[in-house]
Amino acid sequence: MSERRMSREERCPAAGLGLALLVAATTVGCANLAVPADMRAVRMATTGGPDVLRVERVAVPVPRAGEVRIRVRAAGVNPVDWKIRETGYGRKIDAAAPWIPGFDVAGTIDAVGEGVTTWRRGDAVVAALQRSAQGGYAEYAIASADDVAPKPVAWSFESAAGLPTAGITVWRYLVVTGAVARDERVLVQGGAGGVGSIAVQVAKARGAHVKATASARNRAYVESIGADEVIDYRAVRFEERVADVDLVFDTVGGETLARSLAVVRRGGRLVTIAGRPDLQACETAGIVCAGAVASQGPFGDALREIVALADAGRLAVHVDRVFPLEQAARAQELNREGHTRGKIVLRVRP
Ligand SMILES: NC(=O)c1ccc[n+]([C@@H]2O[C@H](COP(=O)([O-])OP(=O)(O)OC[C@H]3O[C@@H](n4cnc5c(N)ncnc54)[C@H](OP(=O)(O)O)[C@@H]3O)[C@@H](O)[C@H]2O)c1
Repeated sequence: MSERRMSREERCPAAGLGLALLVAATTVGCANLAVPADMRAVRMATTGGPDVLRVERVAVPVPRAGEVRIRVRAAGVNPVDWKIRETGYGRKIDAAAPWIPGFDVAGTIDAVGEGVTTWRRGDAVVAALQRSAQGGYAEYAIASADDVAPKPVAWSFESAAGLPTAGITVWRYLVVTGAVARDERVLVQGGAGGVGSIAVQVAKARGAHVKATASARNRAYVESIGADEVIDYRAVRFEERVADVDLVFDTVGGETLARSLAVVRRGGRLVTIAGRPDLQACETAGIVCAGAVASQGPFGDALREIVALADAGRLAVHVDRVFPLEQAARAQELNREGHTRGKIVLRVRP
């Protein structure tokens, strides 16, 4: 990454090579990018079951001012992907407006739009695509330059693809909203999942004492990422093993969220990313509660904080399963079962 202004040759090193199959990217200020005209992408033209996801050839997107194009190596799978697939989740998806799912990618910068001076072609990056018109289950993806961070140096692209949404969520709701602090007692509900596993590690990195819930098969994993105690939520009610915590960070929702109020000390906090807390009950219990709200971005600053922890060796992403891009439907269905350990990732390129 460089702060100085780049020459056209640096932004577009392929310019002038005269290769066939070029995208005419005149809006980018890079007229002769050596990329194919079309790409493989997983797309849906309607909401529904896994069979609405189709592998298609679509035009390679062109970055506009303030955007970058990423040559995707791996794409992360999140629960919101199959929630959007099933219901749209407020997003209009039809034959006239088909959608490429996926909010998390890791890859290399391939082209930059007008005015982008912070990234250059070849930079290894991670990006959050919540503000992009299309998602990342594709060979190329567009991101706002402000939603990109360097890939953790020592990480594979597959591990890195598991980081953006989960990492940003933890930064936003555990660190900023939850204000997790040194020596605090924290309970992470769902400590084995994509978000929960990062929450356990970030809470530990910030000096908290961390308990986490997980099923027995994930006990060793959640201990290995730093939890001081793992509570098998299927074997015992967590209320029997934890009380008077300063902060609950909930990734499970439902009954788990409702019951979590009872284990927070008076004056403590509860933050959930998986439902709406009962604010009346929170007030009665003397607890400050918060739920997730739609985020506007930009996401790059939060992503950099998380990447810094990764580069410092304080954070890892466990990749549960890797599927080829063509098996995105299988990947979503596995995540939908609700028992992912760490992250499920799509391999887009070897
Ligand atoms: N609002 C936001 O900004 C935001 C952002 C990201 C995610 N989310 C939401 O947060 C939720 C979690 O996301 P995620 O990506 O972490 O999901 P995930 O990776 O699919 O996590 C599933 C995990 O939940 C655990 N689990 C299931 N039932 C549990 C229970 N009763 N008690 C404790 N752990 C339980 C599972 O562990 P076991 O296999 O051990 O049961 C599994 O590891 C989803 O609903 C997602 O949509 C919201």
